[in-house]
Amino acid sequence: MIKLENVTYRYTDSSRPALQNISLEIKPGEAVCVMGANGSGKSTFAKLLAGLIEVQQGQLKITNTTSKPIPVGMIFQNPDNQMVAVTVEKELAFALENLGMPQREMELLISENLGKFKLAHLRQRLTSELSGGEKQRVALASVMIFQPDILVLDEPDSFLDEEGKAALRMELDNIRKQRPSMVQIHISQYPYVAYQYDRLLVFDRGEIIADDEPRTILNNIELCDRAGLCYPDVSTKRVIVPGHGDTERDRRAVRLTAIKADAVRFAYTEEADILRNLTFDFKAGEIVGVVGLSGSGKSTLGNLLCALLEPTAGRISYLAHDGEDIDSEKLRGSVTGVFQQPERQFFLPTCLEEVNFGPENFGRTPAEQQSKAFFAMVGLEADTFGSRDPFSLSGGEKRRLAFAAVLSMSPRFVVFDEPTCGLDPEGVGRFIALAKALKDMGTGLVIISHDGQVIHSLAEHIIYLRNDASNLVLSPTEFFGNPQYRRVVSPLSNQPA
Ligand SMILES: Nc1ncnc2c1ncn2[C@@H]1O[C@H](COP(=O)(O)OP(=O)(O)OP(=O)(O)O)[C@@H](O)[C@H]1O
Ligand SMILES: [Mg+2]
Repeated sequence: MIKLENVTYRYTDSSRPALQNISLEIKPGEAVCVMGANGSGKSTFAKLLAGLIEVQQGQLKITNTTSKPIPVGMIFQNPDNQMVAVTVEKELAFALENLGMPQREMELLISENLGKFKLAHLRQRLTSELSGGEKQRVALASVMIFQPDILVLDEPDSFLDEEGKAALRMELDNIRKQRPSMVQIHISQYPYVAYQYDRLLVFDRGEIIADDEPRTILNNIELCDRAGLCYPDVSTKRVIVPGHGDTERDRRAVRLTAIKADAVRFAYTEEADILRNLTFDFKAGEIVGVVGLSGSGKSTLGNLLCALLEPTAGRISYLAHDGEDIDSEKLRGSVTGVFQQPERQFFLPTCLEEVNFGPENFGRTPAEQQSKAFFAMVGLEADTFGSRDPFSLSGGEKRRLAFAAVLSMSPRFVVFDEPTCGLDPEGVGRFIALAKALKDMGTGLVIISHDGQVIHSLAEHIIYLRNDASNLVLSPTEFFGNPQYRRVVSPLSNQPA
């Protein structure tokens, strides 16, 4: 039903093809997993199948037994790119309206699908105000409602917590049972996802280098190494953080050395607290992990620490080395964050300008070598990426760029919100090494993550936020020693350390 013959695709401003000589057949009812390093061409392949970009060279045929057009549903890597309507209800109606379905029939179908995907309570909510996990569920419901013959999922679980991941897995299983002739193509960075499929395709620099049973491929160490599917040995991996360390920071008026939260309460509305009575403090050079299910307030806490929000009650203080209080207005880039969705922080036409913006903002134009060193720190080739538009990068490349752009400011404290989401195994290993290097330089880190391995490898203190607004400040032993708590992060066995 899907047949590609020697398909090559090159983006207009790119020197090398994103896909090269892809030949492949997928039969009705097949469920296929796709893996590969950041930038290897997975999302490009998905966009081609969904008809969002057109074949330039070679042939792509999608056929079935009828002569009707074949509906292809796609779930995007970033659910923000998916939402077209203002409310959840309208989002589900969108495709049906385009098909010209009568109102009554449409309403019934919408109610049925809202129920099926546990979204009934969100029916009238604004799509812009949903959490990442909720958006992902709305995306799935709005695609499944038109019963596609082909379902393409581009890292659909990247914004989901552990409960959300399990629910998605069940949902995808159900969908397969209900529509046995539907083709399912699922792009993922996780071996445990691949094991749920019968067939695995591996992309490497735009080519398919393996097409076999997941077990056969994932047991082939040499192949996994080549395709970047293996986790590097984080105990030996080193990353060099360029910069001026304290000299750069000393130029600024403040010398921030600790952040203290005192009985912090936060609420967006009067009805419900997000955080209640949160007290902790930590120093530059320490790493704090923040864990909790979707909607528990992790990103809110990150924004509070970066002084982008103010506590509703209680206080967050920024302390200088002599213990004196620093006014949050005077922090001047000493505390910054890398957002959950990196593109939200890009605003300049090229990657190089993004990386140079921080230092330039402090009145210093970085030497070429220095900008290059920031690209190297995150594993991006400066010569290729420097002149690229940040918005044209692949998902994982965007996240890497965001690290470089924030760290070029030499902040004293950094909040990383889901830093490994969308990164390939090399990227995850690199992030762990990078965090260790930052710590050694005396930077304080807050790492918000669902990734058990990342929290386990790095966090010295763990703040566990619970959905009833209560919270616990725990040692790693207390957190990982408790099976109830541990469930909010991914199992360590998902990734060989
Ligand atoms: N609009 C564009 N213009 C130029 N190059 C692009 C564009 N979109 C993607 N690319 C490049 O094409 C290559 C393949 O990108 P693609 O998004 O398919 O990768 P991916 O395998 O999905 O990566 P990730 O794991 O990071 O999501 C990358 O090197 C990327 O930088
Ligand atoms: Mg991608």
